[in-house]
Amino acid sequence: MTEFRKVIPPLCLAVFFLFAFLKSGFAEDLRASTIYQIFTDRFCNGDTKNDDPEVSKGMFDPEKKNWNAYWGGDLQGVIDKLPYLKKMGFTAIWISPVIDNVNKPTLEADGRVMAPYHGYHARNFKGIDEHIGDWKVFDRLIESAHRSGIKVMVDMPLNHTSTINHGEFGALYNGMEFMSDTENDRNKLFNHLPEIADWNDPYQLQYYTLAWLGDLNQENSFIDTYLGSAVLNLKKHGADATRLDAAKHANWGWQSTVVNKLYDQGRHFVVAEWWMSDTDDPLYKEAVEFVNKAGVGMFDFPFATTIRKVLGEEKSGFKHLARVIEREDADLKDPNALITFIDNHDMPRFTSLNKDRRAVDLALALMYTVRGIPSVYYGTEQYIHDDTKGGGDPYTRVWMKDFDEESEGFKLITELNRLRRSSEALSYGFQRSIEVGDDLYIFKREFGGHSVVVAVNKGKQNSAPVSTERLSAILGTGDTAIEDALAGRLGGVAFSAGAKSLTLPPRSISIWKARESNGNGLPEIASISPGVIHGGKPVVVSGIGFGEKQGQVLADGESLSIRHWSDRSVEVTSPATSYGEMRMAVKRADGVTSRSKPFTALSGKLVPITFQVESPGFNWKGEKLYITGSASNLGCWSRKPQQAAGPLLLSEDRDYILCVALPAGKKVSFKLIILDKEGKLVREEKGIHSYKVPDQGPWRHKLRWQDEAQ
Ligand code: NOJ
Repeated sequence: MTEFRKVIPPLCLAVFFLFAFLKSGFAEDLRASTIYQIFTDRFCNGDTKNDDPEVSKGMFDPEKKNWNAYWGGDLQGVIDKLPYLKKMGFTAIWISPVIDNVNKPTLEADGRVMAPYHGYHARNFKGIDEHIGDWKVFDRLIESAHRSGIKVMVDMPLNHTSTINHGEFGALYNGMEFMSDTENDRNKLFNHLPEIADWNDPYQLQYYTLAWLGDLNQENSFIDTYLGSAVLNLKKHGADATRLDAAKHANWGWQSTVVNKLYDQGRHFVVAEWWMSDTDDPLYKEAVEFVNKAGVGMFDFPFATTIRKVLGEEKSGFKHLARVIEREDADLKDPNALITFIDNHDMPRFTSLNKDRRAVDLALALMYTVRGIPSVYYGTEQYIHDDTKGGGDPYTRVWMKDFDEESEGFKLITELNRLRRSSEALSYGFQRSIEVGDDLYIFKREFGGHSVVVAVNKGKQNSAPVSTERLSAILGTGDTAIEDALAGRLGGVAFSAGAKSLTLPPRSISIWKARESNGNGLPEIASISPGVIHGGKPVVVSGIGFGEKQGQVLADGESLSIRHWSDRSVEVTSPATSYGEMRMAVKRADGVTSRSKPFTALSGKLVPITFQVESPGFNWKGEKLYITGSASNLGCWSRKPQQAAGPLLLSEDRDYILCVALPAGKKVSFKLIILDKEGKLVREEKGIHSYKVPDQGPWRHKLRWQDEAQ
């Protein structure tokens, strides 16, 4: 009986969690969430005992005057403020890196301490930094967040350790065991190449040194295993999502294998931080290719850069923003997995750009209504900012003094979170522009018969009259008006079906939700998670209108085995018999089939293989070398630059190299091709290479160009 009593509470707890989990949707599906970004050291000091720990003494500034010192925020502080976040309606948080950071500071020329209060200067990827807590507090944070219906995204800086010319000289530890630093690196755990000089050269970006930080050599087998298990460790401790910090700088092919390891272990959401300007960024195409191939979400830098120009600095118009959104929507396999933001810890707060609160509010409301998952930087709800030297790093990392639940920003964000939760169209909908001018932006979001129309006028005058004809058709209005979903909070007006045209007030946003579903009742897929995985693994297809009775899920016509079926979510087993790009659709029991969405089937678990091609003896005039072959990440024999692997990168020793994520233990065949600047085939090898991928990577595979003569 006593034993039984002991078992009952955990059992109840387990049932409670299972119920809460099912109710809140699937853990990996952040698409329906709204994120609050917490810069842990600057948020809330929940435990003063860890302010200046013995092991790393002297990096804490109780007066908060040195912006580069620790100020005391910690994981207990985050736990303490979960009720505040829940009240504002957030369903996910992104916290700065939790892993153990360097214990000795870097000293500035004037002797002032530069501490890793941000978390991006790792030393032991398997521990929690003593300034913010330990594993027990981390576990409590996960448990409390989940109990509040809040998912947790952890930040992982897999590219580097700490500063190489100061402090601990980039030291790396495996738990308590010292492994190496950048001064004495006998086992080649680091790349020892110069600082990045050309920010558009993919070789330099991945292999050179970023900001004097110890650049980890992910093609070293210890580093590969070590970092992989560190990431998985956080997932095992309950993290729902991982942010790949500096994804542009860590080895691209290798990162795909890490993503695959995470997805292999069940539900998880991964998102890449690939810093760029807008869609005209010279490496935009590379980012898109990385994200599509790895099956991850992406921080929407193009959206952020543009909205900051349009509404923050008022230097551009909505035509620019619409162009950026349309381009990304056309290029990305899953635009709803983008994370939209208007500022973060690396750039001046939006409020520093524009003191007019209406500009901030309009930017927030737009971010909540365009496609993608909105992420709000902590303190935006209190309009905090420090404009010293323009308000950039570190002044964007302001201490969060006020947790005022009555502030206008708090109320607006609460309202926006509520709106977002109540609308499938806003969480998952396709976006289409309806009318775009410099000051005017009208667009619709549609999903499974639900529609929302958003109309913004950023100008200082009333807009010219806008015809209501098209809008009425989308909203399916009857005779009665549709109120603005924010009840005029940001100047929005009601949509009156009777009038032929309407005028949008200055500096306003109006959000009109179709009164009810247009009633097409068709099944519609919201997300496929993961979107890239090998055969035999569970894949969750979420959406609406699948019907209670079991139907089929088709992947390029092949019917997949069903593990679980409900009206809104189906779990299938990923296909083991075919590989490559395919399209998945849900066929309801009554035969009605949804629109299809892309999915990539891999032929096996991924391992990192670095191809090394001895110079093919070609007279290069801007052409590029690619690999195409019989694996998803070799482009399935495609000769298109976006699908084939590459271009290969000219390395230090003048060979061409490329790290590709390939199916472990499988035999692949491939050939080398040379494409011109337009992506047209210039020359291809005659012979076909054949290669048995080892069961474990990383591995380097050397080869030579095979011409007719060979
Ligand atoms: C991007 C992070 O957001 C930034 O804060 C950090 O300094 C760099 N990556 C390097 O880790």
